[in-house]
Amino acid sequence: MNYYERTVGCGQVHGDLVGKTISLSGWVNKRRDHGTIIFVDLRDRTGLMQLVFSPDYSATAHELADQLRSEYVISVKGTVVHRAAGTINLEIPTGKYELQVHEVVLLNKAKALPFQLDEAAHVDEEIRLKYRYLDLRTPEMQHHLAMRHKIIYAMRQYFNEQNFYEIETPILTKNTAEGAREFLVPSRQYHGSFYALPQSPQIYKQLLMAGGLERYMQIARCFRDEDLRADRQPEFTQLDVEMSFISEADIQSCIEGLLAHIFGTIMNHQISLPLPRMTYDKAMSTYGSDKPDLRFDLPITELTSLFQGTSLAFLKAVLDKGGRIGALHVAKHAFTRSELEGWVSKALTNGAKGLVWIRFKENGEFEAPIAKFLPADFFKQVKALIPSLEEGDTLFLIAGKYQDAWTQLGRLRVQLGEALGLIDHKEVNLLWVTDFPLLEYDDARGQWSSVHHPFTSPQEGWEKLQPGEMKARAYDIVFNGIELGGGSIRIHNPEVQRKVFDYLGLDKDDMESHFSFLLEAQELGFPPHGGIALGIDRFVMLLAHCKSIRDVIAFPKTQSGYDPLMQAPTPVASKKLEEYGLRVVKKEAGS
Ligand code: AMO
Repeated sequence: MNYYERTVGCGQVHGDLVGKTISLSGWVNKRRDHGTIIFVDLRDRTGLMQLVFSPDYSATAHELADQLRSEYVISVKGTVVHRAAGTINLEIPTGKYELQVHEVVLLNKAKALPFQLDEAAHVDEEIRLKYRYLDLRTPEMQHHLAMRHKIIYAMRQYFNEQNFYEIETPILTKNTAEGAREFLVPSRQYHGSFYALPQSPQIYKQLLMAGGLERYMQIARCFRDEDLRADRQPEFTQLDVEMSFISEADIQSCIEGLLAHIFGTIMNHQISLPLPRMTYDKAMSTYGSDKPDLRFDLPITELTSLFQGTSLAFLKAVLDKGGRIGALHVAKHAFTRSELEGWVSKALTNGAKGLVWIRFKENGEFEAPIAKFLPADFFKQVKALIPSLEEGDTLFLIAGKYQDAWTQLGRLRVQLGEALGLIDHKEVNLLWVTDFPLLEYDDARGQWSSVHHPFTSPQEGWEKLQPGEMKARAYDIVFNGIELGGGSIRIHNPEVQRKVFDYLGLDKDDMESHFSFLLEAQELGFPPHGGIALGIDRFVMLLAHCKSIRDVIAFPKTQSGYDPLMQAPTPVASKKLEEYGLRVVKKEAGS
């Protein structure tokens, strides 16, 4: 034996063990040399325990302790004792005890680390990711991954109890037309042909319903080659769910049950069900977002009617083109002039064409860059639309095409909410956003595209409507202003599916080459079905109060999709490429 069998975790030593001999293994978190006595904080996954080495307990152990450095790996045996009064540390659960070490084995040494673990949060992220295994030793990362495990475990438990089967779907699959960009994998057998990595198991889970499995779930890895942000990674994990013979309400209540189970068991927090629902139209018109953060109010009010006859050239130009004017009303906050200018710059950085502020003073007077273009009774006019308006309040106005202006207001709303401290960060706000549009016009491609995905069922009566007016049987679940998940009732009728593909600009050949199997399955007894997928990384991020999903993924990529630890992606030797029938075309400089 070259180490002692662990009797307990470092962080689990408790009063009943006082006077007993125990063995611990772990990493040297810190060593403090007090002459004849050496203290070592030993760390393992469960926490910290103070070790004491003294020649009085063991001369050999004390001699070895002298050589210990941070992150050395050791195994010790000793007696648990109470710490002397005055040396008790109530900040850690084991802070009342220490271990008088009789025996120690050095299991491995460590060179000086590239960064100190207790400073990891301030270290450049690329370095942290290059040495991710060191970063993972920090209590924060250990906590995040433990939480991730618990959440996934609770999901499996819940769905098992609800009679779902967990079924794996392929990773090497066929390229489809499901929104974002796909990662391709060249085939060695079929030169010039590629597998695609799944952006989600969407089609497979629908085919499982065609296969009569009825209730499916999977903790599914998904791959999307898209621009990365704090809440996006090129590979991420979804809780993927599909059910047959159900309606929107069945899926929503199934997910509500899951959320109640997770919040109850992991956060010890009771959520009240059913969760609120809000239509997409209402969310956009009131909050300028399809994922409104309702932990604070600050709604948008439309003020277009007040500017109908305006002589202000830029507003007139917007209104003449059918544009609209929306306003955010900030009550009782005395912005300074430079703060107001700061908000104007912020709106411009967000992509807005401009932001107008109006500050109301006593007796209905006001101050604004456009003040001389406003009527004397402007306060009264606004108050008719915003009854809560008072002296001392401020309005922020954005004018433009409805969708653009309202989206900009929505962004500003969240930034104001943060900056003005309107958000209670302890609050859990969950809601369903429903009745999404089926299609949106993609100006760049000059054609309609799916808001959700091409397999989402339109709402009844859709054929009589213009494409932009059609609604989808789709729903999103929103958690504190972040899209946690989305799903829909699917199309199971091949005629409807063909018509939707038509709207998306897929001709007969495209349909055949990409989706013949789906259209065929729809002709061979496809049950009505629907489902949803929740982003697990985002869920853990929100529950663990992290800023980025990278903090809850063991080995994430950087913001630019790079893995500094493995150094991926890497070039491949031309000889190897030949086996795949591939040759790399060098990028022209500047292209
Ligand atoms: P959707 O594309 O909305 O739906 O994805 C579902 C959820 O997955 C998470 N998510 C991501 N998380 C991290 N990084 C990413 N790049 C990323 N992209 C998405 C989000 C999102 O809400 N097949 C459908 C689901 C269905 O209809 O059943 C789908 O994938 O939390």
